Parts: sequence; structure tokens; C-alpha cells
Amino acid sequence: MSDAVSYTTSGDIAVVTIDSPPVNAVNQAVRAGLKQVFTELEGQTRIKAIVLGCAGKTFVAGADIKEFGTGIAAPGYHEVLRLIEDSPVPVIAAVHGTALGAGTEIASSCHYRVAHEGARFGLPELSLGIIPGAGGTQRLPRLVPLDVALDMMLSGKPLPAAKAMEAGLVDCVASSEVVAAAVAFAKELVAKGAGPRRTREQAVKGVEQVVELFAAKRAQIAKTMRNRQSPLALLDAVQAAVEKPFDQGLQVESALSAQLEQATESRALRHLFYAEREVRKIPGLSADVKPRAITRVGIVGAGTMGGGISMCFANAGIPVTILDTAQANLDRGMATIGKNYERSVSRGSLKPEQRDQRLGLITPTLDYAALGTADVIIEAVFENMALKKDIFAKLDAVAKPGAILGTNTSTLDIDEIATVTKRPQDVIGLHFFSPANVMQLLEIVQCSKTAADVVVTALEIAKTIKKTGVVAKVCYGFIGNRMMDPYGREAEHCVLEGATPEEVDSALESWGMAMGILAVYDMAGIDIGHLTRVARAHLLPRDPGFYRPSAMLTERGWIGQKAGRGYYRYDGAGGKRAVDPEVIAMLHEEGQRLGIPQRKPGRDEIVERCLYSMINEGALLLEEGIALRASDIDVVYTAGYGFPRYRGGPMFYADTVGLKVIYDKIMEFQKTLDPQHWQPAPLLKKLALAGSSFGQYQAEQSR
Ligand code: COA
Repeated sequence: MSDAVSYTTSGDIAVVTIDSPPVNAVNQAVRAGLKQVFTELEGQTRIKAIVLGCAGKTFVAGADIKEFGTGIAAPGYHEVLRLIEDSPVPVIAAVHGTALGAGTEIASSCHYRVAHEGARFGLPELSLGIIPGAGGTQRLPRLVPLDVALDMMLSGKPLPAAKAMEAGLVDCVASSEVVAAAVAFAKELVAKGAGPRRTREQAVKGVEQVVELFAAKRAQIAKTMRNRQSPLALLDAVQAAVEKPFDQGLQVESALSAQLEQATESRALRHLFYAEREVRKIPGLSADVKPRAITRVGIVGAGTMGGGISMCFANAGIPVTILDTAQANLDRGMATIGKNYERSVSRGSLKPEQRDQRLGLITPTLDYAALGTADVIIEAVFENMALKKDIFAKLDAVAKPGAILGTNTSTLDIDEIATVTKRPQDVIGLHFFSPANVMQLLEIVQCSKTAADVVVTALEIAKTIKKTGVVAKVCYGFIGNRMMDPYGREAEHCVLEGATPEEVDSALESWGMAMGILAVYDMAGIDIGHLTRVARAHLLPRDPGFYRPSAMLTERGWIGQKAGRGYYRYDGAGGKRAVDPEVIAMLHEEGQRLGIPQRKPGRDEIVERCLYSMINEGALLLEEGIALRASDIDVVYTAGYGFPRYRGGPMFYADTVGLKVIYDKIMEFQKTLDPQHWQPAPLLKKLALAGSSFGQYQAEQSR
């Protein structure tokens, strides 16, 4: 028997165990082990039933992603799953933890499924740009109704055991240890004389309104999964399950899977899977550096950010003390938090008792002394250096020794803030994104004196509050906002040249950005970005005094959604954006007044200018050491800035375009547009001329 798969017998029941740490992902060793064990068991006539379970914290959590795109070594999935399904005696999957991807496919090739009550079943392959390739698209619709199968595969959301049982995927939910429960279930089957129940021999379920169902799913994909090929391939594979015999359906699935695995979409999404795990690893940091304990948190500022950050900790069960300078602010802040939780209760995503428990963890205060017991205190007031310094001096006086002092600043020099404390080693940037309780990203800004264990603690905090923490160094705007600057500059310049805001945003949105940058400015408040740029013009990356249309809009009070007007018009709060001819005319006139040649940049040009300027800035961040890795930048942009995941993030996308292509375009724009702004980053130039890529550069750096 192999290390990865072994079995024991107890009377006439065999218990097969997959043991492939950390998450029992299926690789060649697991497939070979299953083949060997099931072949051996087939020859043992005294065995009357087989239970298949996993060691460790979870059932199989997927195919081993490292094997994707490599052409896997024999035995293949179909051979092994067929062997399990063909077993002459009943095979019962014993599922605990998360059966994901190949895990659900293996369980589906078993004849029966017993699940622990905490178990979940999912087919998240689309999140990796592929479709289930081990028979999942053919077997799942034979176990659960077609609409449920499609929802599971399109959403990727795992189904909890109880729901899986309702749908027909699970035969028995156990509240005790699952393998023992599955053995008991197996004994009952044997006693009843029940034989194998092969999934492939069942009919597809719930096919009454199949035409309407597929039409609705195609429409849903066109709307919510634009530019992607794997969801459409998924529908084709499931349609084959409905229309063709099992083996032919399997062939359709295999052919589509093989194509998708090689496609850019899947490479991009796999890149992000690893990038999101890589961000937790800080080069050069010894494994001996341990995080500080975080059991109590303080927040300064009860505004939108402070409230949202408080919710993140309360949601994780950590008590929070939230401070503001006026009772009215505290009352307003607490009321907003209450309203947010209330909305979750009315949507059904939170139970009333959970709301009460979370609210009970948040204590408002006007007294700095109340922050004295906090292990980490996060300041979240508006962007003003003098104010932040004043707050940090006060925090330095009351915080206990070893407490971490975090600032939520998005642009200010945190090294300077740290100077007012006697503990710069404990000061760090914790840049949340609005709304903080929703947005995935946490930029962790390591200052020149921040201690290593403070960085490690910040990464641990991110994990605890279920955010993706990415470490950056101090500079204007850190990673995210610094790259936004040239990106926004090009978008605004396109408008001054003659494009409308709608043309710019729709080009970016069709390409895949969740929201066009000008609409983002309207949402965030045009005044905020404008005033920050004016206050710190000397720090702007190669952008001294560049004319911004945002200045004109701010002067007129057309500062975006909150004013009902900005680059667009808005009717009512949260209203839909509408074209504003007056703003368009004003900005085009301004472009003429400034002597900017009037023309309409095409959609491709808009996308190239916006993205290539952003990528160029990313290359500068890498050279300056502000970002640790190109893939960290990709995580920042996909987790925090609405960059389409299926394009892998700006730096991965640059590699797919080719750095030489981008470099040549930048040189062209230098001649045709603006020599000052279009200067290639030296790193980009070097890699482009060497025929290299950001990916290769990262691999070389990590060696
Ligand atoms: N293939 C290869 N490695 C995998 C893997 C897979 N399918 N799933 C997880 N891993 C690795 C991770 O890379 C990580 O490795 P590292 O410690 O070297 O960084 C390790 O297993 C632990 O994973 P992590 O995500 O950090 O653990 P977790 O406890 O937070 O989450 C899961 C566990 C299973 C929920 C999560 O890993 C997951 O969703 N995995 C992907 C599942 C999937 O998409 N399967 C379908 C593939 S077809």
C-alpha cells in the first residue's frame, strides 16, 4: 500500500483512507494508491462493503492544482473513478470538512455518501477557470436536480451537508465521527443486501424545463461573467450530460477541460490562487518570529471607516472599543453599525442573536484611557497629518507596552506619524478599503522602523478577520493608490481630448474592470482625491502640477455621487449614473483651452493607456521595493480595486500581453501623447528588451 492511500478491514467492511496532507488534494500518488487499493479489494470476496474517507482536517479538497496544465501522469481520473464506481460491493464515501472539486467528484463516483454535519460539498472549478474534469459535470446532475447542479458549479459555493442531503447528494448526515458513521451505514446496507448504486447508471434529474433553464443560465453568464470562457464551456458539458449517454458526455467534458486548462483564463486564476497564499510569506523573515496575541482592539474614529473596521473585529468575535471626540459622532457611528447588521439580519445572512452578540462586542468611548487594554489600536480619522500626529501622541501615552499602533491612512507618510511616538517599532499602516466590513483587501504598510513581529501580527490579523493582507512599504499611496494615479490621469486626459466619461468607463468595464475609474472617482468623492493631490503635489509620482479635470469639478461642488453630480449625474442616493452633457461640454472646452488636440481615442487606446500606465507604475514599485513581488500587486488589484480576476491582475496581464509590446506602446505614447508622463520604468524596459516577464523576474528574485 502507498503512503497516500491505505486500508484496514473490520469484519466484512474495508475502510480506505486517503492521507495526502495538507488538504488531501489528489495527485498522481493518490490516484495510483486508489487504483492499487480498489484493485486489491476487488479480489477479496470476504469484503462486503467499502468505506472511503480521508485523514486530517478535510476530505479531498480538490485536484492538486500543481498538476494543472502539465498533462497528468497515469493513472488518470476517469480510470480511477470508474474503478471505484465499478466496485462489485457498495462503496460509501465518508465526508468531513470540505469535499471540493475532485473531492466531490470522487464522492459522486461512490455509491452512497455519508457526511458529517459540518461537511460541505462544492465544485469551485470555475474559480480556477476550468470545469470539473473528473466526471463532475456528468455525475452531479444524476445525483441532484439539474438546476441545483448548475447553481453549484456556476456559483462555486459549497453546499452544507444538510442542504446536500435535501438535494439528494448525501444519504445520511452524521453528528458523530464520520468514518464510524459510514461503517455503521455500510453494515446496514450489507444487512439489507443492498448492492452498488452506480451514479452513471442514473438518469439526469430535473430535466422538465431544460431549454428554459439553459437559456436563463446563458443570460446570467452574459451579464455576470462577461469575457469568460469556462462558464460557457461548463454549460456545454452539462448539456452533454442531458443529451448524450454517460460515456459520450464524459468525452465532451474531457475535451473542454483540456482546452480550458491551457487557456489564459485558467492560468490567470491559478496564478492568483498561489499569489493569495504567497502574500503571507515575507522573504527573509525567520520562522521564529511569532505574532503578538490580539484579544482586544481599539479603534479611533467612529466614521464610516472606523465603524466598518470595528465590525470586522466584532465579526471575528474580538471585543472592540471605539473612540471618538464627540458623543454625537459615537451615537451616529454606532447607529450605522447597527443598521448594517440589521440589513444582514433582514437578508437572512445573520441571525438576530449573532447581531446582538456582535453589537455587544463593540463598546463606544470618549476616553483615551479606555484604549489602554487594547493589543492593537487602529486610527481611522480623515487624512490630515497634524490630526493623526496628535492622535498618535495621545495613543502613545495610554497604550500598554507592546500594543500595536495602526493607521488607516491611504497616502500619508507613516514614518512621519511614527516620530511622535516613543515606539516607532510598534507603528504600522493598516489600510482598509471602504466599506471595510465588505472589501477583501488589507494593505499592511511596513514603516522603516516597524518590528518584524508587528508585520507578522498584521498578517495574522488579516487572516483572523478573513481579509487578504498584502505587505507594502511606505510611499505616496502605497501600492494600490499609487498605481491608481497614472491610471486615473490617463482616463481624465482621454476626456480632455474629446472622449466622454461614459466612453472611457465603458471601455474599461467591457474590458473587465468592475467599475470605470471615473465612476469610481464619483463614488469615492472627487474632492477627496483632488484635495489629497493638491496637498501633496510634491510627492506625486512624476506628476507635478498636472492639470486634473477633478479640480474643475471640485471647484463647482460637482464632487460625485454624494452631490448627485460629478463626471455623471445621479438621481437620488445610490441612483444610476446618467450622462451629463454640461460636464462633457465643460471638460471638452477646457481641453481646447489647454491646447490639447481634440480627437476621440478609441476603446483599445483607452484601455491601453489606462492599463499600461498602471503597469508601468507597478514596475517602479517593484524596483523601489515598495511591493515585495509582482504577484502581490496582482492580489492588491484583484482584491481591492475591481481588477478582473480572470485576467490575473495587472502584472500577470502585462506578461500575457508581452512586456515588449507594452514597452513599445509606451514609447509610441511618449511621442504621440506626452513625453513627460510616458517614461518607461527602467525595470519594465530591462525585462522587455531581454524578452523576460514579471513572472520570470519574480522567480529569479525568490531563488
Ligand atoms: N491543490 C494543491 N494545493 C492545495 C490545494 C489544491 N487543490 N488546495 C489547497 N492547497 C494548498 C495551499 O496552496 C496551501 O499550501 P501552502 O501552505 O504551501 O501555502 C495549503 O494547501 C493550505 O491551503 P489554505 O488555503 O492555506 O488552507 P485553508 O485551511 O485556509 O483552506 C481549503 C483549505 C481546502 C478550503 C482551500 O485551500 C481551498 O479552497 N483550496 C482550493 C480548493 C479548490 O479549488 N479545489 C478545486 C480544485 S479542482
